[in-house]
Formats: sequence, structure tokens, C-alpha cells
Amino acid sequence: MSKTNSFLINNSSLEEMLNWAKKRIIIGPDPISGAKKKELLDKELGNTISKKGIGWKKTFDLFINTIVPSTRPFDHPTSLAFVAAAPTPAASSIDAVLGAAEIFAGNWDGGSGAIYAENEALKWLAKLAKWPTKTSGGVFVSGGTLGNLSAIHAARTNYQLISKAKSKKLSILCSSEAHSSLYAIAKVMDFKIHEVKSNLNGQIDIKEAKKIINKNKNIFCIVANAGATNSGAIDNINVLASLAKSKKIWLHVDGAYGLAALADPQSAKLFKGIEKADSFIVDPHKWLFAPYDSCALLYKDARKGSIAHGQRGNYLDAVDKSSWNPSDFALHLTRRPRGLPLWFSLVVYGSTAYAKAIKKTIQIAKKIAIGIKKNKNLELILGPQLTVILFRSKKLNDDEVNIWSEKYRRNGALLCLPTTWKNMKVLRICVVNPNTDPSHVIKILKTLN
Ligand SMILES: Cc1ncc(COP(=O)(O)O)c(C=O)c1O
Repeated sequence: MSKTNSFLINNSSLEEMLNWAKKRIIIGPDPISGAKKKELLDKELGNTISKKGIGWKKTFDLFINTIVPSTRPFDHPTSLAFVAAAPTPAASSIDAVLGAAEIFAGNWDGGSGAIYAENEALKWLAKLAKWPTKTSGGVFVSGGTLGNLSAIHAARTNYQLISKAKSKKLSILCSSEAHSSLYAIAKVMDFKIHEVKSNLNGQIDIKEAKKIINKNKNIFCIVANAGATNSGAIDNINVLASLAKSKKIWLHVDGAYGLAALADPQSAKLFKGIEKADSFIVDPHKWLFAPYDSCALLYKDARKGSIAHGQRGNYLDAVDKSSWNPSDFALHLTRRPRGLPLWFSLVVYGSTAYAKAIKKTIQIAKKIAIGIKKNKNLELILGPQLTVILFRSKKLNDDEVNIWSEKYRRNGALLCLPTTWKNMKVLRICVVNPNTDPSHVIKILKTLN
């Protein structure tokens, strides 16, 4: 190595940084941290890039004293809004190490060992879905949005190859509870969405879906929900699979949040028909105890993914096309092995620990729902479906609920935010952390009066 390295190492600062990472993994986040006003960040972080640099120590101080305290600690057990995160200590630890290992995992040549390990994690998921592990495969992408996009692109490419219907404006069919990412993807890919109304639980109305699909000949894909974000609803995947098969179209299952429950044998039954799907996604950074950013995208016939996605270029001629190159399975080229933390954590703790943690999380949601039912000031509106609960206060109006929500978020006791369900303002809880204490949540909910 050259003695005149362009960028020097400050050993004591490096040690301080590694120690901070260790402490953060062991102790967890500060529940009180959260967004700060831009004006304040302007003062503390603005114009920090200078010609000479301020050195490691001062820069890391900015990270621990300004940057981290102005971020929302989604992995805290009291974080029950959106779909939070709950990485295992093993997953977070390997992720911290992974940055130093600087592995290019776009193609086999760059990252074979890491890619092999990622594929083991994908194989575990494929087996849970009762898919053939020989032909299935996929890749870890940054999130559910990119996973859905890549799967739907593969679905359309496959449809165009079979039907030669290239010029028609094509469309997909999904329920009104489908994730917002589908609408963003429809804009990017320029297709139409046939939105089917959902029933009182948030599941797609099958009769309506059949009617629409029989009327519209240009539907190339059905997207089923396996844990809708707002309600936790799981569509009847089995019936949708038959419908897709009868029309010779693709069935994609959006299980970004909910498909994690495949890991619990009892809950796996809820996804009957998943074995017939053509593709699915599940985000390890949601309910599979891995850190950001990680979405597992799987194709039942992996070749269909690579036909749609493989990039070509003279500078790529040297890439060995006969090996497994993850860049071929989604809209990306360079990538880090972001599936490795899931693999590492599964290998460390074993899949039974995963089954137990998922089951425990579902039980926590059930206990919270019972607490809500017993509270005369609250009304349980829906759930738990998987681990999503919708409820409302019988006493407070919407503004008062917002003030309550903000107060408990700010003091770090609970992150529970409002949403809209069937035109009604409600509060929503989504549990993904097996360390959430249901009695603590129930105690805080008692203040909603
Ligand atoms: C069901 C579902 N699909 C897709 C997404 C998009 O995932 P991401 O935020 O990882 O892009 C989400 C995110 O919450 C989701 O809940």
C-alpha cells in the first residue's frame, strides 16, 4: 500500500466510531429522537463541507450529536406507526461490518460468496412459499417499491413475448388497498390500474375482480396483497391465482410487510395459493428483522426475471453470463449484498427463532387489541389482521387525537399515528417488534380519554 495515501486514518476516531456502533446495537435507539426543524439543521449542519475539512472527530460529533438525534428511531419497540423495523443484533452487526467489506454483489465475479449466501436466504423464502428451489430465484433490492416495479416489468415483458401485444396500453388489476408504490410504478411504466373495491376487511372483492378481468383483455398482471399496509388485509391469493391462470397472466404478490408471516407455520396458511404465484416480494427490513434497505424479490421462474432485466453494454462483455448475476433480476446494476444481514441472522439464530418471533409479534398485537376492546373510551375498528390494528377514541376529536399522538411521540412513549379507513379517521398500530411490551402500549392508550 502506498505510504502517501490520499486519505489518512485517524485510529482513535475510528475506534470511537466502532464503539459507538457497538453501543447502538446493544442498547438500541433513543426513543426521544426525531425530526428537527430545517432552520436548526441549517445552523448545525449547513456549510459543513469545506476546502480543508474539519477532521474525523468534529465530523463524527456532528453525526452523534446532531444527525442521529434528528432521526426517528423506527427500531424502538414503542414504534408502532407505518411499518417499523426491528433488526436483530446479529443482522445489525453484520450490516455494520458489511460497509467495511465493500463487496460488489452485482455479478458473481465481484461477490460470489456474498451472492451465494444471499441466495440461501432467497431459497429459504422460496421453500416457505412451497416453490421449486431449482427454477426459482431472484435478488434483494432496496425496497418494496423497486421490488414491485421489477416484478411487474418482468410480468409485462413475459406477456408481450407470449401475446405479441406490444403496442396496446396494458393494465394491471389490484385492490383499492394496494400499496401506493403501484400507482408510482404505473406512472413510470405507463400502464393503467384497474382498482377493485375491497370488502370490509380490506380484501379484494373477488366477484368484482372477475367482472373486470373478463371485460378487459389488456390486463397482464394481477397484484395480490399479502398484508395490505393500512389494514393488514390478505387477499384470497388462491382464487386470484386461478383467475390469473385462466387468463394466462402473471400473479404477483405484494408481501412487503405481511409475507414475513410465512415463517410462522400457523400463519403460513393465511397465504394459501402463494405456491401458484409467479413472483412475490417481502421486505426483510420490515418484519424479517433485518436493517434497511432490503427487499427480497423472487420469481418462480428466475429466467423470466433475467429476460426482462439483464443489461447489455460493451463494457459488460467481460461479465460471465453463465453465472448467477444478481444485477440481471431487477432494475439496477451495481448493488451491495443487502440480503446478507437476513442470511447471517438466520444462520446465527436459526429459522425456529424467526418462527417464534413472528408468532410472538402476532400475539402482542392480539393482546393490544384485547386491551383496546376492554377500554370503554376506545373502539376497535378492525383487526388485528396479521399485526395491524385500527381503532378510534370515543372521547377525543380528530384534532385532539393528533395532539395526543404528537405528545407521546415527542416524549418517546409511543409512536402511534392516525390514518383513514373507509373514510373514517382512525388510529393505526402495526407491530413488527417482538420486544414491544403490550401492557406498556395498553397503558399509554388509556390516556386517550
Ligand atoms: C405492502 C407494501 N408494498 C410496498 C411497499 C413499499 O416498500 P418500500 O417502502 O420498501 O419501497 C410497502 C411499504 O410500506 C408496503 O407496505
